[in-house]
Order: sequence, then C-alpha cells, then structure tokens
Amino acid sequence: MFRNVAAIYLHLAGLLQRKKAGTSLTRCLHQTFAMAKRLQARRLDGIDHNPWVEFSKMASEYDVVNLGQGFPDFPPPDFAVQAFQLALSSDFMLNQYTKAFGYPPLTEILASFFGKLLGQEIDPLKNVLVTVGAYGALFTAFQALVDEGDEVIIMEPFFDCYEPMTLMAGGRPVFVTMKPSPTQDGELDSASNWQLDPTELASKFTSRTKALVFNTPNNPLGKVFSKAELELVASLCQQHDVICISDEVYQWLVYDGHQHISIASLPGMWERTLTIGSAGKSFSATGWKVGWALGPDRLMKHLRTVHQNTVYHCPTQAQVSRAHRGKLSVPQRQGLPCCGAVLRCGLPPPQGLAAIPVSIFYSMPHRKHFDHYVRFCFVKDESTLQAMDEKLQRWKDELRP
Ligand SMILES: Cc1ncc(COP(=O)(O)O)c(C=O)c1O
Repeated sequence: MFRNVAAIYLHLAGLLQRKKAGTSLTRCLHQTFAMAKRLQARRLDGIDHNPWVEFSKMASEYDVVNLGQGFPDFPPPDFAVQAFQLALSSDFMLNQYTKAFGYPPLTEILASFFGKLLGQEIDPLKNVLVTVGAYGALFTAFQALVDEGDEVIIMEPFFDCYEPMTLMAGGRPVFVTMKPSPTQDGELDSASNWQLDPTELASKFTSRTKALVFNTPNNPLGKVFSKAELELVASLCQQHDVICISDEVYQWLVYDGHQHISIASLPGMWERTLTIGSAGKSFSATGWKVGWALGPDRLMKHLRTVHQNTVYHCPTQAQVSRAHRGKLSVPQRQGLPCCGAVLRCGLPPPQGLAAIPVSIFYSMPHRKHFDHYVRFCFVKDESTLQAMDEKLQRWKDELRP
C-alpha cells in the first residue's frame, strides 16, 4: 500500500516538473488516473443499474405519495421493538461477535420451528445459516453453488436481484415467463391467473441447468403457487438433478383462500432445496436485515464457506431480538406484503404517486410485453393510502372525457 502511494507521488512529481505553462494540477491528476488499469471487474458489466436505488432516489427528491419500494411507513409491532431494545440494553456481551453461522438461540429456534413446518429433523449447526437479510442468503447461495457456465432457471416476473446474482457467479440466467390468462370483460385480474406453461418450463431444463429459483408468494405478483404447480417444479428438479433456491420471504403474508406450501416439504425435495426467509419481512422491520437459509448439510456447507469468507457474521443484537425469550413469534397478519398489487394501466400512473413499473421484474427482451403494468406497495399507513386515493380520484376525473 505504502509503496503504491509513494509510486503515485513520484509519478505526480515527475508530471508536475514536466508540466507546461498553464497546465493545471487537476489535468495532471486526470492524466495520472486516465492511465489506470480497468477498474470495474468484468462480472459487474451490465448490472450497474438498480431499480430500487433509482426509484428510492426519485421518490425522496420529489414530493410524492410513495407506494414504490416495499417497506412499511408505520412502526413494527411493539413486541418486536421491545425485544430489540432489550437486546441493546441487557448483556453487554451482545455488542460483540456471536457464532459465525448464527446466534445459537436463534439457530435453535429456527431449526425447531421450521423443522415442524418442513417435516424434517433440522440440525441448528448444520442446516441453518443466519444471513444479512434474505439478500445475504441469496447472494451466498449463488456464490456457493453456481459455477461458470451453469444455467439458472428464473421465473418471470422475478425479484430483480436473481439475474445479477446469477451473472456475478458466472452463471447464465434462463427465463421462463408466467403469463396472465385472459379475463372476461370487467373481470378483475388475479395473481393466480398468472401461470407457467408446463411444456415451456420443461423445455428450459438442460444438462447444464444447475439451479432453479422459485419465489412463492411471488414478488411482484403476490401469486401463491398451488400444490400442483409445486409438484411440477419439484418433479422437473428431481428429474434433471437441479437445486431449488426457494425464496419464501413472504410466506406469512398469504391472503385468505390460499395456502403457502414450502417446496422443501414435498417428497424428495429437502435434499435439493434451500429455503430462504426474512425476519425483516415478517416483522415489518426491513432495516434489521436478519435473514436465513435452511437446507441439507451437503448444500449448506458450501454456503458456510462463502459466509465465513465474506461477511463472517451478522449483527448480534438484531439476531437476539428475533430469538427473544426462546421463541420465534410469527405475527398474525402484521407483516409486510411488499409485493402489493400489480395493476394493468393503459396510461402512466398520475403525477405525484410513486409506483414500480412491473417491466423491471422481467428480463430485457421481455420487458416491452409488460410495460403496461405497475406495482403498488400498499403496506402503508392509513394516511398514505388516503393520499393515494385522493391522487387516483383526481386522476380519474382528469381522464374523464
Ligand atoms: C422476493 C424477495 N426476496 C428477498 C428480498 C430481500 O429481503 P431482505 O430485506 O430480508 O434482504 C426481498 C426484498 O424486497 C424480496 O422481495
């Protein structure tokens, strides 16, 4: 490091000595840095834009009713906040590192809680990894399991990070599109109308397919995949020896008439599935960033290798708050349907109302077919929803002939 700084200094000094009259120091600096090697790693090519960063910036710069990014604008439940406060003020050692793969009381609770749901004997040390949010679990999974040239099947519309995470690992995303079945005049579209064509899905599996990313309930649609759909995906994964990365962060946000089923609970699927969850989503506290991956040791041991060599460890107190009093409490309908409502619009939404265009949840070639949908996140305070209502009413009046 010192040698590099010294080298830059000597180089600059040389340039300054040689500088002609009128050449500024800024220009010399520019010349120095223009000679630098390529900075950006090739794996970042084409993935430098992030819709969430851009839309959050725009929403903060303008005076808008923000139904764009999926986070609540109301406080998390009292019991969750109290648990966090207690974690901050109790044992001072909770300010220090805990076990690399998760705070032990939390991994134990996750193991026993999800063990019952998935019908598995889950070992807290071998089958559970606590991560920096579900994002952390996904990143770790892609890095651990996807190799140069591996194909990863992604169902569109998809939570946008699956594509860059595949690319950063050297993999090749292969998209399969869910399409809405036609509705009768006046009939409302519904998430369950959006379906995969089984023949098309099957055609995406090749000898190079390493993994399939599954997201139920789906962001942005809110679609809860049916048992029959899960069985189809499960049988294809088994037939082609493919790993299933199952993102289930919205599993507690299922609407009446639907039932969330974890694909890992289907026969033969535990051995090839990573089940990913998020306390941030379940407890309306997205900033706490506590997530996890659950799965068989044969997959988890590779995730642990990535984890111990990257973040190593997640914030202790945030983990403690989730493990408070030895139980994992799941709030009843207090959570966060980030994947609010997807609406079909012939026109752009009204000014002053921030939403997310559904096209960003599609791969580039397919975006144009879905550019007439927007996603509204409605896990917002009553006053925000009221403000949204006023905007929409005004817009409706303006559109009237
Ligand atoms: C489908 C899906 N998976 C994962 C995440 C990331 O969750 P976390 O905030 O726990 O990292 C999100 C966040 O919006 C999401 O919508």
